[in-house]
Order: sequence, then structure tokens, then C-alpha cells
Amino acid sequence: MKITQRLGLNRINVKKENIETVNQERFKTQEKRNHHPDQSEKSKSYFEQDLFPLLKTEEFIFREYLRNKEAKILVAGCGTGRIPFHLLRMGFTKIVAFDIIPEVIQIAKKIEPSLDFRVLDATNLNEFNAESFDLVIFPYNGIDYIHPIEKRKKALREIHRILNVGGQFIFSSHNSRLISYKKIPVLLRTLLSGLLFTGYYVNYGEHGFIITKYSSIGRIKKELAGCGFKDIHVKGDFSSTVRNYVSCKYCHYIAKKEP
Ligand SMILES: C[S@@+](CC[C@H](N)C(=O)[O-])C[C@H]1O[C@@H](n2cnc3c(N)ncnc32)[C@H](O)[C@@H]1O
Repeated sequence: MKITQRLGLNRINVKKENIETVNQERFKTQEKRNHHPDQSEKSKSYFEQDLFPLLKTEEFIFREYLRNKEAKILVAGCGTGRIPFHLLRMGFTKIVAFDIIPEVIQIAKKIEPSLDFRVLDATNLNEFNAESFDLVIFPYNGIDYIHPIEKRKKALREIHRILNVGGQFIFSSHNSRLISYKKIPVLLRTLLSGLLFTGYYVNYGEHGFIITKYSSIGRIKKELAGCGFKDIHVKGDFSSTVRNYVSCKYCHYIAKKEP
């Protein structure tokens, strides 16, 4: 295999207006293969499913911050339902979950038809009233695939609007300060695609291309504050703050809507 192919430098044809389509095509393949490999055979209830596991940091955050089993929870970018199914197992029942891709929602519904799964875009949550959820979760860096930056801000403002006062927003995002030699091909692809300096980087893997927003912890804190969030906590993979800044691939954030 040629080195250009190995690095995923061939076939880069990223037009800025196509970024969301590129990302959605990639998620269609990834979600179907990764999350519920047996879904094609027959539908199983979430209790029988060998669920795609929670990340260690998600486990920690859910244990620390999700104490009220009566909480009304909205899961954004739920894919085929990994997080909603874990929440159900944990005893939460008031769950609404959505994704922008109809095909992945179809799979999620097939696995657990009783759950409220919807096809929605996080940038337009008009169907929910202001102050109608206690908790919003946008797991596994889902927010980083919204392009361009104005739409990402719109999603954050929508999430803030639908949260109850005192409600929390939990999500994760790629860390731009990560120091790793693996970033070299990503930087090369991003340079060749003309996206360098936009904050979005071109990743490439077994499921194809994906364009991802990377941010520093400081930038995310500013972004959240700009959309009205307060009391922002960061949870990385390591106990040391310095190590989290440079070694954490993606960090988790817990932000509050306060009066
Ligand atoms: C990395 S996947 C995470 C999948 C699943 N939530 C999980 O935690 O395993 C990100 C998900 O966010 C969804 N997504 C991206 N942009 C979105 C948007 N604007 N509105 C709703 N969902 C979106 C994608 O379709 C994809 O399913």
C-alpha cells in the first residue's frame, strides 16, 4: 500500500459545505457496525444486549452527577442508543433521545421500541419547550461533528434554552492540546483539504473520513460561558490537571444552567 493511502491522503475532497454530509455518511457505517453487531439478526431488549460499554470517565460522571432517578434526560446524538440503553439499565425512565441520522434511530427503535427516540438536529430543538429537561447529554464528542462553528454555537444555545434552571449539560470534546505523533497525518490531511486554522481537522480511519472540531479546555470553557452556562467542571482521563491538558484525547465537561 502506498504511503499516501496509508495516511489517508488520497481522495481528500472536502468541500466546506459538504462536511456534515461527509460526517453523516461515516456515522451510518460506524454506528451500524460498532454498536449493535447483532441488530441485523433479531431485535433484543437492552437488558439482553451486550451493550457497547461506557467509557471509564462516563461511568465516573454518571455515578457522581446522576443521582435523581426521576430526572428528565435528553440524549443528543444518541446514535444507535448506547447511552439511553445504559441509562435505562441504571433505572432512569424519563429519557428522550435523538440523532440527526434516520437510519441509526431506526436501529435504536428496533432494539427498544418503548423508548422515545427521535430524528432531530441539535441545532433546532423547537419541538421542546424552554426549561423542560433536568439533564442533557451529548456523548462521545457528538458536538464536534457539527459544522460550521455558528451551528455548533446554535446547538449549545438550544441546549441551554431547554434545560431547567439548575439543570446540567454533560458532553465530551476532542482536546486540541493533545500531544501525540498520531496527529501528524491528521495535520497533513487538514492542510491538504484547506481546513487548517478553521479548528476542524480531517480524521481518517477504517470507516472513512470524518471532520472533527478540536478545542482546548480553555476555549470550551469560554464557548460554554458565551452560551450562558456556569459552574463548568472538566473531567479528563487522568488525575493530574497538567496531564489532562496534554494527554487526554477528549475531555468531559459538566456545565450548569444557573439563574
Ligand atoms: C461519535 S457518535 C456518538 C454515538 C453515540 N452517541 C455514542 O455515544 O456511542 C456522534 C453522533 O452524533 C450525531 N450527530 C452529529 N451531529 C448531530 C446533530 N447536529 N444533531 C444530532 N445528532 C448529531 C451523529 O449522527 C452520531 O450518531
